[in-house]
Amino acid sequence: MMSSINRGLKVAIVGAGTMGRGIVQVLAQTEDVTSIIWKGRSLKSIHSAFSDLEVQLGRLVAKKRIAAEEASRFIRKIVATEDYADLTDAQCIIEAVSENMDAKRDVFVSLAKVTSPDTILASNTSSLSITELASLTANPANVVGLHFFNPAPVMKLTEVIAGLTTSQCTLNWALDFARKLGKDPVVVNEAPGFIVNRMLIPMINEAIGILAESVATAEEIDKAMTLGANHPIGPLALADLIGNDVNLSIMETLHSETGDPKYRAHPLLRKMVRANLLGRKTGFGFFKY
Ligand code: 3HC
Repeated sequence: MMSSINRGLKVAIVGAGTMGRGIVQVLAQTEDVTSIIWKGRSLKSIHSAFSDLEVQLGRLVAKKRIAAEEASRFIRKIVATEDYADLTDAQCIIEAVSENMDAKRDVFVSLAKVTSPDTILASNTSSLSITELASLTANPANVVGLHFFNPAPVMKLTEVIAGLTTSQCTLNWALDFARKLGKDPVVVNEAPGFIVNRMLIPMINEAIGILAESVATAEEIDKAMTLGANHPIGPLALADLIGNDVNLSIMETLHSETGDPKYRAHPLLRKMVRANLLGRKTGFGFFKY
């Protein structure tokens, strides 16, 4: 097991959704990460994620934050694949698939078959059990939570989550790694929703309740929280940024893991998901995009 981060780190990432794309951008922009293997569900999904990444880097070039040749160099670090076998020699693999235990379980079982017990396996889960994911692998001590925030290239925090079996060495490695990525990490002992989502998602759920009871419009609710609590965006705009499928899944985890009725998902949140009004990613949520 690696105790420090060597130069020329090879990192793999599984998942090409909102978080996977953001994390790949963070990895690509980190000098110490020299090689990135990006696994999506299909080459098609990865290629669309690649185009998105090119657009994001193009924006940075247009703003003169990075040079055009740097953007090309970042892109060249990345190799796309749909095959788990290509992830074998990565030193660290970050799982960033849907916030769903079955989906994550499939990934960890597949990774256990192709990786050595030395590989650090990190999950970007927003609320699920690192201990459970670790139990599916050959070396649970090397499994850790590495929870990024959306948009990953912008948000400074990474929650580094210790499961019951995570070793101190792995935790230290993950903290060091998060700092190399330019993040300012906090350590969290595994608990549903960790720190941020345990507070943030119930707040969003409450905002949905205020909307459903017609206490105020979506615009007024968001205005109240931006001007009254100095939040950068209102809770409903944030719901749309995170994705209502993710919001629902986190509420369900908080509820089922604790049994506490205060975490009951609001029926309107459920309806929004059933209607595919997921937010920015589907073009419609509490607001239109
Ligand atoms: N990807 C990359 N960069 C982005 C981006 C994206 N998706 N969206 C915005 N940015 C960048 C912009 O390019 C801009 O960069 P610059 O300052 O270098 O030019 C910067 O962010 C600010 O963007 P804008 O000026 O366009 O817009 P805002 O001032 O409104 O800022 C925001 C956008 C940073 C997203 C701000 O609205 C914000 O902080 N919102 C709250 C975000 C938040 O709370 N995230 C956590 C969600 S919870 C979570 O992720 C956990 C999960 O498990 C659910």
